[in-house]
Amino acid sequence: MDLDIRDMDLFSLNARLEQIETELALGLTRAVTLDEVKKLDASLLGKDGPLNALMKVIKEVSPANRGAVGQAINAAKQRIRASLDERSASLQTAAADAETSAALLYDPTLPGRFRPMGCVHPVTSVQWEIERIFTRLGFTIEAGPEMETEEYNFEALNIPADHPARDMQDTFWLKNGMCLRTHTSPVQVRAMRKFGPPLRTLVPGRCFRYETLDASHENTFHQVEGLMIDRDISIANLIAMAKLLLSEVMHREVELRIRPGFFPFVEPGIEIDMNCQICGGKKCPTCKHSGWVEILPCGMVHPNVLRAGNIDPDQWTGFAFGLGLTRLAMMKYGIRDIRVLNAGDLRPLVGVRRLSGAVIQEGAGTSGPPRLGISRPE
Ligand code: DAH
Repeated sequence: MDLDIRDMDLFSLNARLEQIETELALGLTRAVTLDEVKKLDASLLGKDGPLNALMKVIKEVSPANRGAVGQAINAAKQRIRASLDERSASLQTAAADAETSAALLYDPTLPGRFRPMGCVHPVTSVQWEIERIFTRLGFTIEAGPEMETEEYNFEALNIPADHPARDMQDTFWLKNGMCLRTHTSPVQVRAMRKFGPPLRTLVPGRCFRYETLDASHENTFHQVEGLMIDRDISIANLIAMAKLLLSEVMHREVELRIRPGFFPFVEPGIEIDMNCQICGGKKCPTCKHSGWVEILPCGMVHPNVLRAGNIDPDQWTGFAFGLGLTRLAMMKYGIRDIRVLNAGDLRPLVGVRRLSGAVIQEGAGTSGPPRLGISRPE
């Protein structure tokens, strides 16, 4: 609205000024940046703005009114300037504050935040590794019950009730006449009955014995049972498989030692020892100062066990082994106390992860460089 103030009384001038100040108020609600405030400033107080237009014509107002008109316009101009300046100042402070708080939020000199990472339990990790090796060789992976019948745990494995070999396996007997399996061997006969020959199967699992706890004895531990039945399987197959298995798991060529061993379910029975991976044969408490650790009891499946599994021993032969999985994981990761594995204490296990599957001490137990590049569980 363009009024000519020469014709205006003071009342209409004030109305016009009020109108301009309403424009200011509206403009300020919209102006959220300094630039927008500047534009508003120019549009209201600039050369071509409404206040300037009013000022230009003051001299034409009748002398009687001129003073009052001039005062009213100047007062309005000052109020508008003050409002605009105030808004600019507060926007400037807000921008500076934002800059400071952004700087506070990110401080590149602070150390990174530590996030503990989960990892697979060392025993599980070695178990998966062994499963991979054996599935590559055509073995299936089986599981059996942890609560086992006397028949499968002993009888069918050629360990009758009065056999002294039962004493070697301190057994948790249950009130229902069953027991907690003392080894994974019962799954041998279960697999024979289920699948028949030829047969290649691997059985990882938890076993239980009534043991007093110490650094190398647990009442709950893991084994992996292996069973291969076919025509003309010989002990040479067994030894070749043992060498492959242990070298792959330790990621280096290991040395084996073979001794006779007695287990009622194999004939002949042998003990395969591995050179101690902790001390490299220099003799330490882990290898009971012998340089060797018993790792793989095994042998050729006893004819009585084949018969118990409904397999004709004149047609088929086979080997079996019972790998101490817990002990192997301890060897592999340099864990000296078996109790940490079941204690639910994450600290030693997080330490194990850093070893990322390599043998514990470089140069220990080697007869060659570490063999890397073997597939491992993620
Ligand atoms: N079951 C035996 C144990 O826990 C280990 C074992 C020995 C398993 C010889 C076998 C074997 O398959 O052939 O003491």
